Amino acid sequence: MSRGDRFLELLKTTAPVFAARVDATARRFPGPFARISERLIGWADATLDGDSLKELVDGYLNFAFDVNRCQRAYEETGRYRSQTAAQIYAEIYADAEVMTSYHWGMYTTWFAWEHHLAVMEMFERSFLPRFATDEPINLVDLGCGSGIWSALALSILLKARARLVDISPTTVAITTRMLAAAGLAARAAVRVGDATEPDGVGGADGAISSFVLAHLERPETLFAGLAAALKPHGSAFVTAALSAAESDHITEFRREGEVIAMAEAAGFRLIEAHSFAPEGVPPSARYLPRALALVLEKRRGEVW
Ligand SMILES: C[S@@+](CC[C@H](N)C(=O)[O-])C[C@H]1O[C@@H](n2cnc3c(N)ncnc32)[C@H](O)[C@@H]1O
Repeated sequence: MSRGDRFLELLKTTAPVFAARVDATARRFPGPFARISERLIGWADATLDGDSLKELVDGYLNFAFDVNRCQRAYEETGRYRSQTAAQIYAEIYADAEVMTSYHWGMYTTWFAWEHHLAVMEMFERSFLPRFATDEPINLVDLGCGSGIWSALALSILLKARARLVDISPTTVAITTRMLAAAGLAARAAVRVGDATEPDGVGGADGAISSFVLAHLERPETLFAGLAAALKPHGSAFVTAALSAAESDHITEFRREGEVIAMAEAAGFRLIEAHSFAPEGVPPSARYLPRALALVLEKRRGEVW
């Protein structure tokens, strides 16, 4: 049995209601589900002591439960619950137990949720091939979380190096262990820090920031940080949550164009955009939660 199937079996036994969504992903996209879950669960197995599958399933359940609860409240109130970065730092990012569960929960969604799996495929299809070169390349990953984007990039681009930053010490500790377990530590440097405060290095070939914008009081500062990190014509891969409530979402984007306009204002040219939505949102819902994925190029001048 594959790792993804074992994850699904344990989920079905633990919480059958929550397993239906993952089962649908596995049935509708068997190839990508098997391939991506094998790699991600393999890295988690190599990182975690003890029953890693149980930790992943528990993380998934906590994460999915929280997302459902927050989205229901958002449908009623029309606003996100959290208001400040200080609040979500204290309640989530600085709390080791909460953050460990969040870390692995978020991680599993990348193969468990159909629209997240589609974002991964876009990253592999449209972003990584932009670095088809034999030259060494430098990447930055702002708000790296579990580091999966850098880990995937480093395992495919064998001459690449990556600098990763996240505000949560817990996540940084786990991600550091995972990159070592995956044999990628020599080409990766992970640090605790605020992604909106550029490290002043610059000159990177590629920049990644996935699902961080909604977590910030001033998301435009993240685009400024991405632009500052890149060299002219460098490429960025950015994802953003739209109309999607979570405990640590502060900034609500309702339209794709709001994020694209922010990227353009920071000096980026849009290369590709896709707005992915989950299946099964009831037609009665006010909001359609989406994942917007962007491939961007840093402009050198006004238009190019
Ligand atoms: C939804 S997770 C996304 C993680 C990862 N990029 C991914 O795509 O799976 C959001 C991450 O942003 C981090 N974060 C939030 N605010 C941040 C900030 N100001 N600077 C750096 N990281 C931040 C959180 O600690 C968390 O790991």
